[in-house]
Amino acid sequence: MVGPGALPAAGLLYWLGALGTACAAALASYRLLVAFRVWVLRSGAAAVGPALGAWAVVTGATDGIGKAYAEELARRGMKVVLISRSKEKLDQVASEIREKYQVETKVIVADFGETEDTYSGIRAGLEGLEIGVLVNNVGISYAYPEYFLDVPDLDKTIDKMTNINVLAVCKMTRLVLPGMLERSKGVVLNIASAAGMYPTPLLTLYSATKAFVDFFSRGLQAEYKSKGIIVQSVLPYYVATKMSKIRKPTFDKPSPETYVRAALGTVGLQSQTNGCIPHALMGWIFSLLPASTVINLLLKTNKQIRARYLKKMKEN
Ligand SMILES: NC(=O)c1ccc[n+]([C@@H]2O[C@H](COP(=O)([O-])OP(=O)(O)OC[C@H]3O[C@@H](n4cnc5c(N)ncnc54)[C@H](OP(=O)(O)O)[C@@H]3O)[C@@H](O)[C@H]2O)c1
Repeated sequence: MVGPGALPAAGLLYWLGALGTACAAALASYRLLVAFRVWVLRSGAAAVGPALGAWAVVTGATDGIGKAYAEELARRGMKVVLISRSKEKLDQVASEIREKYQVETKVIVADFGETEDTYSGIRAGLEGLEIGVLVNNVGISYAYPEYFLDVPDLDKTIDKMTNINVLAVCKMTRLVLPGMLERSKGVVLNIASAAGMYPTPLLTLYSATKAFVDFFSRGLQAEYKSKGIIVQSVLPYYVATKMSKIRKPTFDKPSPETYVRAALGTVGLQSQTNGCIPHALMGWIFSLLPASTVINLLLKTNKQIRARYLKKMKEN
């Protein structure tokens, strides 16, 4: 038997359901349109090149993603300052870039793992340069996924990882941003990681440092957007580099060159980006899941990677 209040209640449920479906459809269409604009039309993307300022500065510039940014910015006609630890590698990459792209280069030897004298040396090296683009790329991760207290050489790792992944981003931005603000233009690209989008168990410290980079970037973007500055948080999944130990690029684990070309196309369109279509798809899929499911999935995956790594170490 149907009670007196049942019909209005059913009507209310019907309208709530219809409203929910309409909202979900509108949101899905909006996201699809945004994705189409970013990945297909690319309309409104910022011209990242010498018009922003003659020089680009890249930290961790002798390998992987940093080297790819340095090369791509040089290809676009920017002079490049390369910063890493090894003078030999820096000179090698600088001469490759000079020959290939006919642009000026400058190298600064610096160890971001250390704090003493590092930034006074960099400040002196950057003196007088008109810097249009800063790529805060340098970063380190764990050798393999591990429980926090069992990370080898834990105290040293904590110092090094926070110095390199966190402090360097703040200090480099502090050095370069004032010049950009004086000229009311500039682009700061902060290379975080998809591991910073969710707490990533067994990479906990790395994941937390990258979440810092993401928050720092998004806060800065809100502060300085109206002053002509673009700050972008870049959150890659796997890219085939020394750090990821992936030698052969694939569609979802692209080469650094492929990744950087795609990521640069999103500057001005996305203040937070996964950088390329396959990574954006992965980010979208994860965003549909509850955070606890994602964290459990990451824990399970990293436990497997850890077990494989430790087994291999035992065999050798
Ligand atoms: N590869 C990935 O799958 C992936 C995914 C997500 C996020 N990321 C992020 O992307 C960034 C670049 O990673 P990558 O894979 O390209 O790394 P990579 O191939 O290991 O290259 C690291 C670069 O940083 C320099 N470097 C390392 N330690 C340094 C230090 N203490 N001081 C100064 N320079 C230092 C290295 O040169 P020297 O050794 O000569 O100093 C090298 O040029 C990192 O922030 C990383 O967290 C990478």
